[in-house]
Amino acid sequence: MLMLEKLWNIIENEIENSDNINMLNEIKIKYLGKNGIFNGYMKNLKNFSFEEKKKYSIIINTVKKNTIFKINTKKIELNKFIIKKRIEQEKIDVSLPGRYVKNGSIHPINYSINIIKKFFYTLGFQSVNGLEIEDEYHNFNALNIPKNHPARDHHDTFWFDENRLLRTQTSNMQIRIMKSHKPPMRFIFPGKVYRNDYDSTHTPMFHQVEGLIVEKNINFSHLKWIIYNFIFNFFNKKVSLRFRPSYFPFTTPSSEVDIMTDSEKWLEILGCGMVHPLVLKNVNIDSNVYSACAFGLGVERITMLRYGISDLRSFFENDLRFIKQFKYI
Ligand code: DAH
Repeated sequence: MLMLEKLWNIIENEIENSDNINMLNEIKIKYLGKNGIFNGYMKNLKNFSFEEKKKYSIIINTVKKNTIFKINTKKIELNKFIIKKRIEQEKIDVSLPGRYVKNGSIHPINYSINIIKKFFYTLGFQSVNGLEIEDEYHNFNALNIPKNHPARDHHDTFWFDENRLLRTQTSNMQIRIMKSHKPPMRFIFPGKVYRNDYDSTHTPMFHQVEGLIVEKNINFSHLKWIIYNFIFNFFNKKVSLRFRPSYFPFTTPSSEVDIMTDSEKWLEILGCGMVHPLVLKNVNIDSNVYSACAFGLGVERITMLRYGISDLRSFFENDLRFIKQFKYI
């Protein structure tokens, strides 16, 4: 009896002093397990008289019950403590300054393309991007630039094989769209084009926006009106323009358009003209019924003029100090 009281004191102490769940589990096994101390006591009772057995088993069971209760209570206490500690560790200090998230900005070339699109949308044009990997037919032949045509020499083409190439001009889209759509139509085709060229005024990849109108009775003066108004809109002022007669195999008559720069020099910014009847024939459009005009514009050029950028290559060097200067409203 006295021994059991002492044992209870020991057990209570042990439980009290355990500071983690593992220690508590060990205590549980030690006292309450199959080969634990309480079972040992019960086994020993077999040598006692019936009366003693009855008396001691009640006491043993009471201490056992108390032990179970005490262990469970301690377990709850320890769990609470663990959770509290974790909450403390994971606590967020809302008074700390937030992390700075850097905002990117739109590349000046994309910004220009967006301005161009907006202008042409107001005139009822649709915009289509088109593929950059093209075949010889759509990039050259159908545009009246057959093999051995001198106009090909200007293009310095990147070929994949005998037939496939990186398009050298967005004019390929004229063919594709006129084949897949019925006139009347008004389209612009912004996108990347590729030529094997690299210096301060040429990069192997650059951007063009092609324009195409196929309608009854469309003529060169419509084309002129559109180009004048587009350029005034893009530069936000009335700049001086010059239409200079030129030659492109897919337009006749053809013209290049020069702009007067701040340093009082003419600079070529686009090519344009009335789509050649042979090209219309290639896409099964009757040139007696419909006429078509087109233009092709270099996006880098006009962007450089708009922002006073002197080296074309700076667009593509990914120098953040350059890109970050462009803040748009
Ligand atoms: N594709 C020509 C080039 O890359 C530009 C051009 C000229 C496009 C006249 C046209 C055009 O649509 O009519 O140099």
